[in-house]
Amino acid sequence: MGVAKNGLNFGLIGYKFMGKAHSNALKKVNMFFDPTLQANLTAICGRDEAGVKQAAEKFGWASYETSWEALIKRDDIDVIDITTPNNTHKDIAVEAAKNKKHIFCEKPLAMNVTEARVMLKEAEKAGIKHQIGFNYRFAPAVQLAKQLIAEGKLGKIYHFRGTYLQDWLLDPEFPAAWRTDKNVAGSGSHGDLGSHLIDLARFLVGDFKSVIGITKTFVKERPEALNMTGLSATKTGQEKKLPVTVDDASLFLCEFENGALGTFEATRFAAGHKNGMAFEVNGSEGSVRFEFERMNELQYYNVSDPAGLQGFRLIQATEAVHPYAGHWWPVGHVIGYEHTFVHELYEFIQSVYHDKPCVPNFYDGVKCCQILDAVQLSAAERTWVDVDKV
Ligand SMILES: NC(=O)c1ccc[n+]([C@@H]2O[C@H](COP(=O)([O-])OP(=O)(O)OC[C@H]3O[C@@H](n4cnc5c(N)ncnc54)[C@H](O)[C@@H]3O)[C@@H](O)[C@H]2O)c1
Repeated sequence: MGVAKNGLNFGLIGYKFMGKAHSNALKKVNMFFDPTLQANLTAICGRDEAGVKQAAEKFGWASYETSWEALIKRDDIDVIDITTPNNTHKDIAVEAAKNKKHIFCEKPLAMNVTEARVMLKEAEKAGIKHQIGFNYRFAPAVQLAKQLIAEGKLGKIYHFRGTYLQDWLLDPEFPAAWRTDKNVAGSGSHGDLGSHLIDLARFLVGDFKSVIGITKTFVKERPEALNMTGLSATKTGQEKKLPVTVDDASLFLCEFENGALGTFEATRFAAGHKNGMAFEVNGSEGSVRFEFERMNELQYYNVSDPAGLQGFRLIQATEAVHPYAGHWWPVGHVIGYEHTFVHELYEFIQSVYHDKPCVPNFYDGVKCCQILDAVQLSAAERTWVDVDKV
């Protein structure tokens, strides 16, 4: 499973929100990061032939397929990149692993921890490289936060405080779509948004010991959707309503293995917030704060600053010394959402080329699903749940 001289051939499944983000990223890795790494846009897959053909032309894919099973069977494909809804991840990944394809899979890894464990087991058995799309880890400011914590600049960690606030479901007339259907999404804001916060907390603070949470569905039925892409959808115009079978909001507390405490809030009902992902970490020697909508900045507070000069300092993480930033533009020439995908796929491609472990991988995906499931169990039973019991 080495890399052929003419590069790594990708087969991408799904061509809408994440399909577009990944297509864009794959084209940038070679140009901005490492000319010796070559990702080829070999084939893109979707069920609707006219739609996938158009996407192939627009995004620059050399060919297309209308069935993921056919894509996986192709000898000229080295990597299967999964950007389809959550209920498809397990079957696609298991089949890809059986066919010795490397896998990049969007988050959450699966519908639940049982499925996620199957994916990890099959990937390990096949000896392929596997990575999960927790792209927010790859913002330079988040990597800087990680560096500061690893260097001990925050001292002993006491708190992680994470919020992921959106408002696209606030209107009760917004149609029901795959993201509001438990059979397709697994859960609502919890798995969609909460999974990112959980991964960031694991990345920055460490593993979780126990959780207690509550989830809520504010609007119980919605008009039927004609179609949905990303966070927008159109109505069929019919009277028919469909039940909302996932949470609209999910809140929980955790205790980490290292004794720190965490609070988490994920919602699609926070009026005014569009993609308001933010976290703060507080330690004995200082704090860091990050807000995604100001993703080039990290706020850092140092307890040891002289009295009279204390306060959060605003670091613009665009210097060449900041992780990934030097590959882009001169200092102060900021980057955006799409760059996080370039960074994660650069790391993935490098791992395949140089036979190194991918981070974050399906193990991290399993740990995240375990915590998601533990919170749901806790919400159902209205009690604390030890994560390792799930
Ligand atoms: N990393 C992130 O920040 C991020 C952001 C959004 C979505 N996601 C994840 O990405 C995945 C896709 O989300 P999205 O927003 O791109 O969805 P989307 O609805 O915009 O696109 C889904 C695509 O999958 C295709 N598809 C569905 N079932 C298929 C099948 N059986 N075979 C082939 N194609 C199929 C659809 O036609 C569409 O092209 C989800 O797992 C989601 O959680 C991650």
